[in-house]
Formats: sequence, structure tokens, C-alpha cells
Amino acid sequence: MRQLTVHQLHPLPFDAAESINQLRVNLGFCGTDIKSIMLTSSTPDEGKSFVSMNLWHQMAGVGARTILVDCDLRNSEMRTRYGIGGQGKLYGIAHYLAGQVELEDVIYETNVAGGYLVPVTTNIANPSILLEGERFAALMKYCRGQFDYVLLDTPPLMNVADGMNIATHCDGSVLVVRSGVTSRRLVENSIHMLQKTSTPLLGTVLNRVDTSRRASQYYYKRNYTKYGYDGGSNP
Ligand SMILES: Nc1ncnc2c1ncn2[C@@H]1O[C@H](COP(=O)(O)OP(=O)(O)OP(=O)(O)O)[C@@H](O)[C@H]1O
Ligand SMILES: [Mg+2]
Repeated sequence: MRQLTVHQLHPLPFDAAESINQLRVNLGFCGTDIKSIMLTSSTPDEGKSFVSMNLWHQMAGVGARTILVDCDLRNSEMRTRYGIGGQGKLYGIAHYLAGQVELEDVIYETNVAGGYLVPVTTNIANPSILLEGERFAALMKYCRGQFDYVLLDTPPLMNVADGMNIATHCDGSVLVVRSGVTSRRLVENSIHMLQKTSTPLLGTVLNRVDTSRRASQYYYKRNYTKYGYDGGSNP
């Protein structure tokens, strides 16, 4: 298997690390049949990639073979943000979905023990058809069979249909909500959109909480959390 190195995944402050840990534990309580989990949000910049990356790191850290599939094919910043690099020509999910390479060419081992990645190496303008195709379904089936957890980092729900397509291949979704920024109406819209898929919403993550206002933010979070566990994470 080919190798990628993640150069810039720094340890989180205690509170944030503990919140991601709580999220990991809560997802574990969702049941052994919940293996493929999509991280989504209503709008850009709410922290989907941040939560995906750190959850992946923690899951691998406790011994769960975990693969993170970058499904933000239009606008992925994962490789630059986290300093992800490897030797030779790197193929990514778009190459696989377009039929240019095979699955084993885009699943990489990393320097995080137990942590595997399917990266985006080339952003593409219109991935919807690719995400609806058989090759994406085959990737999901394979990963589900090979790994303890399959995490999917996705684009925001409000802009494009990609997230809805991806949801149909997952066992559950987690909605990341940026504290104090994303409106209640947007969050409710996202919940309704996710309800249209058959995939359960496992919980919400209230992200980027101003800890000096934690009491009122907590109340805000509970108002929005209607499914499964209480999200339970406010990194
Ligand atoms: N809990 C957090 N603590 C500190 N920084 C954070 C946190 N969550 C997100 N960030 C930072 O906020 C910025 C946006 O986060 P991120 O890229 O994860 O959002 P996103 O939802 O994936 O955005 P996009 O929709 O563009 O993919 C990044 O610089 C990220 O490092
Ligand atoms: Mg992102």
C-alpha cells in the first residue's frame, strides 16, 4: 500500500481533545453496525474537515482501523491544511471515480498508525455524477468491509447536492454547527435535508464554542439536537 505523511496535525488543547474524545465514544455507543459516518454542515467553514481529521486521528489512536475519505471534491483543502504529502505521482478519489486508476491506488497508509486516507489530489468542478456512480458505491462497500470506521469529509449541504448523494451510502451522519454563526433556520433546513435520505442523523457537533459563554451555548445546542445521542461535542 502506498504511503502518505500527515505533517501538520498538531495536538489539540485539552478541552477540544476531550470533546473529540466524547464524540468518538458517543459514536461507539451508536452500535457496531454504524461504521461509515459522514461529517457534514449547512455552510462552509463550520469545521467539518477539522472535526473529521481530529476524530480520525483519535479513532486510530485507540486502535480502530479508520479510513478518512475526502469527499469534498470541488474544494478540498485537506492536503494543504494538514501538510499531507507522499512520494511520486499521487492519485486521489477523483482519479478512481473517473476510472483512471483502481481502488488500491487511492487508499493510502499514513504515519498515523491505524489511520488510512483517500485524499482529493485534484479538485474538480462537477463531481455529482461521479458520486452517484457505481465506483463510489464500490469504494464504500470495500472500505466498510476492511476498516472499523469509515469517515467521510463532505462539502456543505446548502451549496450542492453532493452531501445528499454521499449520505445515501453511509450508516449515519453528524452535523457540524458553527457556534454563534450558523442560524437556527439553516440548521433546521439541514436536518430536514438529511431526513430525506434514509441515513440517520447521529448527532450534532457544536463547534468553535466561545467557552466564556458556555452555559448559554449549551442551551442552544440542546435545542437543535433531536436525534440519537446529544452530539456531545463542542471543541
Ligand atoms: N474547533 C476548532 N478549533 C480551532 N479551529 C477550528 C475549529 N474548527 C475549525 N477550525 C478552523 O476553522 C477553519 C475552517 O474549518 P474547516 O476547514 O474544518 O471547515 P469546513 O467546514 O471543512 O469548511 P469547508 O466547507 O470549506 O470545507 C480552519 O482554519 C480550521 O482549522
Ligand atoms: Mg472542509
